[in-house]
Amino acid sequence: MKNLVVLTGAGVSAESGINTFRDAGGLWEGHDVMEVASPQGFAAQPELVLDFYNKRRAQLKEVEPNAAHHCIAGLERNYHVHVITQNVDDLHERAGSSQVLHLHGELRKVRSSVNEHDIRYCEEDIHLGDLCDAGHQLRPHVVWFGEAVPAMDKAIAITSKADILLIVGTSLQVYPAAGLKDFVSHSTPIYLVDPAPALDSLGRLTVIKEKAGKGVQMVADMIS
Ligand code: APR
Repeated sequence: MKNLVVLTGAGVSAESGINTFRDAGGLWEGHDVMEVASPQGFAAQPELVLDFYNKRRAQLKEVEPNAAHHCIAGLERNYHVHVITQNVDDLHERAGSSQVLHLHGELRKVRSSVNEHDIRYCEEDIHLGDLCDAGHQLRPHVVWFGEAVPAMDKAIAITSKADILLIVGTSLQVYPAAGLKDFVSHSTPIYLVDPAPALDSLGRLTVIKEKAGKGVQMVADMIS
């Protein structure tokens, strides 16, 4: 079976009711992204940031995978599928994708604010004063702006073996994730599904200007 690598961004979860980052005038759920997604923001207003991610974590219990997540999971019938997602939700896993790499962390995990390797599952709210076993404040296991992306080496290794690359619902503005597409071999076809795509079709890049639910199915039909 061929290797299909699927790189997803916030747009793949939009039809599940989770807002994307850059479609709302630079605000994420009413907040400046830097206020809630940077180490400086956390240092300045830790309670606000913890509460923000508590709300995002709670929201996960109210949303469901959509047709795009299900279609991507179904592609495992015909391909070795690796999903590399920038999203912190768990909708790919809940749709049945078996190999999901989270580049920017996971809402359902928290970690020590001092030791990035001290990570645990968490379904509930965390508050100021909630500590890891070593006595440090817990924080969301989310990669914030300015922080390293530890999963990047693994993502590059996976992407470089792709026979087909499918990119869904990302503005391709945030690096290093946006640079992953440059690691596929020169002959690898690339499909981009996005209603407001960052790129135009060119050569081996085919752009499908559709929402994820419809566009991913179109690509599935094209490569079947
Ligand atoms: N289907 C597919 N794509 C959609 C849909 C939809 N229904 N609705 C919106 N989109 C597209 C937008 O056109 C846009 O190109 O999804 C993309 C969302 O872009 P961003 O909001 O920038 O999200 P993303 O690219 O995932 O952001 C990358 O930035 O904020 C950080 O760490 C955060 O992982 C995030 C990273």
